[in-house]
Amino acid sequence: MKVDVEYLQFMWPMRHFLITCGDIGNKSNILAASFCMPVSKEPPLIACAIGKKAYSSELLESSREFIINVPTKELQAEIYYCGYHSGHEVDKFKETGLTPKPARKVRAPIIEECVAHMECRVVQRIETGDKNLFIGEVIEAYADEMVVQGEKKIEFAAGGFPSKVYGIRSKGL
Ligand SMILES: Cc1cc2nc3c(=O)[nH]c(=O)nc-3n(C[C@H](O)[C@H](O)[C@H](O)COP(=O)(O)O)c2cc1C
Repeated sequence: MKVDVEYLQFMWPMRHFLITCGDIGNKSNILAASFCMPVSKEPPLIACAIGKKAYSSELLESSREFIINVPTKELQAEIYYCGYHSGHEVDKFKETGLTPKPARKVRAPIIEECVAHMECRVVQRIETGDKNLFIGEVIEAYADEMVVQGEKKIEFAAGGFPSKVYGIRSKGL
């Protein structure tokens, strides 16, 4: 027998990312995101679905730049903080203690504690239901040397069906 389910339940587990956007010198923000996927190898394109009400959507529509920062499992608490709170109300760099550092090409900061960073320029925005799908061209991609050389073993942050995400919905999701 088959029973009805909420479709997303069978899409998890997904990798967790921390997307930064805005301007390092002025307003910058961090969003926890899992709805991210590569959509072209040449040119290198990544699509991220971001809630229309999220502060990040607002920043992205004006700056047209973002960074996908790759966190490890050790940053799970910070990921959840960034996923349950909105930059409309809090400064997530201040509240989590994560360190903003200048990126190579875009104005948004990288998160120093993350192991890899993909700097993206928005080439297209598509409205998809309650999300905006931002398609970004990867203009820079770099990672911690120790991780790339295999000298430091890491566990990526990923999750099963995060009932908490759907239980304690923040304004953006
Ligand atoms: C593990 C996890 C994954 C998430 N993935 C997404 C996502 O892919 N897209 C999205 O719009 N929100 C996602 N969220 C929720 C946002 O991070 C949340 O709505 C956040 O408060 C928006 O922040 P902002 O208003 O500062 O942009 C996720 C939350 C968590 C905890």
